[in-house]
Amino acid sequence: MEKTVLITGGAGFIGSHLVRLMVNKYPNYKIVNLDKLTYAGNLANLTDVEDKPNYEFVKGDIVDADFINQLFKDFNFDSVIHLAAESHVDRSIEGPMEFIVTNIVGTTNLLNAAKDSWGNNFSDKLFYHVSTDEVYGSLGEEGMFLETTPYDPRSPYSASKASSDHIVRAYHHTYGMPIVISNCSNNYGSHQFPEKLIPLFINNIKNNKALPVYGKGENIRDWLWVNDHARAIDVIFHDGKNGDTYNIGGHNEWTNIDLIKVMCKVMDEKLSRPLGESEKLITYVTDRAGHDMRYAIDATKLKEELGWVPSLQFEEGIRNTIDWYLENEEWMNNITSGDYENYYEKQYATR
Ligand code: NAD
Ligand code: DAU
Repeated sequence: MEKTVLITGGAGFIGSHLVRLMVNKYPNYKIVNLDKLTYAGNLANLTDVEDKPNYEFVKGDIVDADFINQLFKDFNFDSVIHLAAESHVDRSIEGPMEFIVTNIVGTTNLLNAAKDSWGNNFSDKLFYHVSTDEVYGSLGEEGMFLETTPYDPRSPYSASKASSDHIVRAYHHTYGMPIVISNCSNNYGSHQFPEKLIPLFINNIKNNKALPVYGKGENIRDWLWVNDHARAIDVIFHDGKNGDTYNIGGHNEWTNIDLIKVMCKVMDEKLSRPLGESEKLITYVTDRAGHDMRYAIDATKLKEELGWVPSLQFEEGIRNTIDWYLENEEWMNNITSGDYENYYEKQYATR
């Protein structure tokens, strides 16, 4: 094998798309997927690659330093692409500590293990940290996030991701560790856990359940197809400049309410309901605490330096995504049985 790459969080939403891309595109890389399989991790996301000779899954926790150190000894990784995290803003509001421990301590454990394993010989080594645009805070009506925008995280989730970004940069400046960081906007696509807006609302529309729109639905997000995020990570992993940061985004801003109305319309069509039927499910509920108003990514640097642009238009992407969730009923049913009901009750009962 040409190199051994550790991908953390590979059983999650974005991680599973990245693992699939890397395993299929680089048969001469050994891809090791480390995942704790929290509620968000699901090996059913990876059934199509699980038997590939260059793929190995390891169940484990990035917070367990001894385990992580041993893993680096066992595999002698050349590079790390780190995605494992607690990722849902609403859960971070309910319980910040899990986010602090996983996202900050877990990231630092990986950096320490990489530093010990690589010693002073950093040639051909790379620690790639996958982060979010939420570290930049919230925009008003004008402007976009640039790589130089000062950090201003406002939820426990984004504050924990911002901390982990700072620590990764500190290991670069202090110890000379080769790193890259990317900060991406909201992803959509197949295999996303139905606590996030798009899969949650597709599932609720299908089951004729209320669509809980936070506040007035005027908040704006910049949506990118998850496979385009995975493609960007591939490009940055191979060609990104040591120590640099790259913003990734779709130039595709939607207010939540407009996006929800598009989903309702497409779902009416797909479910052969009278036009306007699904929109009746829209229910305005108490806003998210500290709800960031607007995110928008300027991805010019990634385009100009590394030639990446999104491949899929949103209108086509959202239709494909809806088709996937409708066609993969069993995947959705497996997730929404059991604990999911408790989560849903707790999150939405009092809104
Ligand atoms: P996800 O919640 O779907 O997946 C996270 C994965 O990490 C799960 O498989 C989970 O089991 C694993 N994990 C959690 N804690 C772990 C631990 N202690 N040890 C090992 N594995 C653990 O998240 P996602 O949406 O795929 O996001 C992946 C990464 O991308 C995160 O770092 C997130 O901050 C970042 N990101 C997400 C988005 C988005 O729109 N979803 C956008 C930009 C950046
Ligand atoms: O911007 C990147 C971030 O995008 C990632 O770092 C996070 O991991 C990811 O979860 C996502 O964060 P958001 O908070 O933007 O995504 P979410 O799907 O939770 O919400 C999208 C918008 O929809 C947000 O304005 C809140 C709103 N919303 C969400 C839910 C779950 C609702 O109105 N109702 C809901 O029930």
